[in-house]
Amino acid sequence: METTSHEWTPSTWRQHPISQSPTWPDLEHLARVERELATKPPLVFAGEARRLQEQLAQVAMGHAFLLQAGDCAESFDESSADSIRDKLKVILQMAVALTYAAGVPVIKVGRIAGQFAKPRTDEYEERDGQRFEAFRGHIVNGDAFNAEARRPDPERLLGAYHQSVATLNLLRAFTTGGFAALSRVHVWNQEFVANSLEGKRYEAIADEIERALKFMKACGIDLHDDSALQGVDFYTSHEALILPYEEALTRRDSLTGDWYDCSAHMLWIGDRTRQLDGAHLDFLRGVANPLGLKVGPSMGVDELRQICEILNPTNALGRLTLISRMGHERVSELLPPLVEALRDDGRSELWTCDPMHGNTFVTSGGLKTRRFDDVLSETSQFFMVHQNLGTWPGGLHIELTGDNVTECLGGGSGLEVPDLDQHYTSICDPRLNATQSLEMAFQVAELLRNFQRD
Ligand code: PEP
Ligand code: CO
Repeated sequence: METTSHEWTPSTWRQHPISQSPTWPDLEHLARVERELATKPPLVFAGEARRLQEQLAQVAMGHAFLLQAGDCAESFDESSADSIRDKLKVILQMAVALTYAAGVPVIKVGRIAGQFAKPRTDEYEERDGQRFEAFRGHIVNGDAFNAEARRPDPERLLGAYHQSVATLNLLRAFTTGGFAALSRVHVWNQEFVANSLEGKRYEAIADEIERALKFMKACGIDLHDDSALQGVDFYTSHEALILPYEEALTRRDSLTGDWYDCSAHMLWIGDRTRQLDGAHLDFLRGVANPLGLKVGPSMGVDELRQICEILNPTNALGRLTLISRMGHERVSELLPPLVEALRDDGRSELWTCDPMHGNTFVTSGGLKTRRFDDVLSETSQFFMVHQNLGTWPGGLHIELTGDNVTECLGGGSGLEVPDLDQHYTSICDPRLNATQSLEMAFQVAELLRNFQRD
């Protein structure tokens, strides 16, 4: 059944065809879990989502840069305070490198506190003659390769909610409780990063920031009074894939009467679930959170125009972030017609670059990986496209971890294929490690600094 915009409710998506939906073995069980989730407190608040949209509007106008980063998939087996803190450290370090070197405010959004669902290219996974349902993220099933683990279990929706609550609670403490104060800029440099070239470069910036803060203090400026120095705005985001979960956490804001999906500040639609009449577009068009849309190689100009019209009918600044993920071999060919068309239509969407998802390949040893050089190449081509078209390269969307993993090739430490086995812990896609992430930030800062504004 077709619905028109005024007929939207949090459940109208159920009347649309849905992609990437797990085959839940017990729908009654799922319904019980949904009812329980609907009684739970929201994870984020409408006012926070609105504040993020205002900041994204600044990005859309070319006054700021969006850094969206975190795991490919968060894990139920890894939610320690240390790992969350270390991820935050890397993101804060990257933001400092970008802000300091390029002089642009950086809006920080984590792929965190809810990034548990994965779309899959193949419905089944085959190994050694055995075949089970694909792993769809811990919100759906387990990653172990056996029938029991791979069976979708609705209880996992509650597990995802509770882990998101705990993660967000810690993030709020870290970002407002002193840890993220600019005076702690040295503390974010982890030992194993500090010894690398990038770590030393960061240390030099941190020294200068410290000196500047001391100077201001000596001038009589009360640094404790300035909230921008004492903490950071840090927002959460994930792919809104499992719609029963998203619907159950959707609430009407008492102030404005608008619906917000209170599972995260920002939600995005993946490259595999952006069908025009599909359930995911229908659900997200009705919530007032800022949205992201992955834009992969199969996206056509007309299709993109229609999606923008559906998700952002008022052409509001900051409402929709288009996340280009074309791959380093094709971005220069595929991205310009899309950017140009929206520019000429006078559309307000902002563009960011996901240089990860178009550059994944599998080694002969069976490990998924990405080359640092390909990631960097796609990013610099993305900047070049915007330079040529007079539009703003609004941000970077990457998969990273604060750990010293060996999942992506190259970077300063020159990781090679035989090294990948050493510390490969991702349950889904390969992530940049802390040092590679910082290196990426310095490279992007350079691109931003060289970017010529009209
Ligand atoms: C992702 O961001 O983890 C992802 C699956 O991306 P895409 O939808 O672009 O493939
Ligand atoms: Co991924």
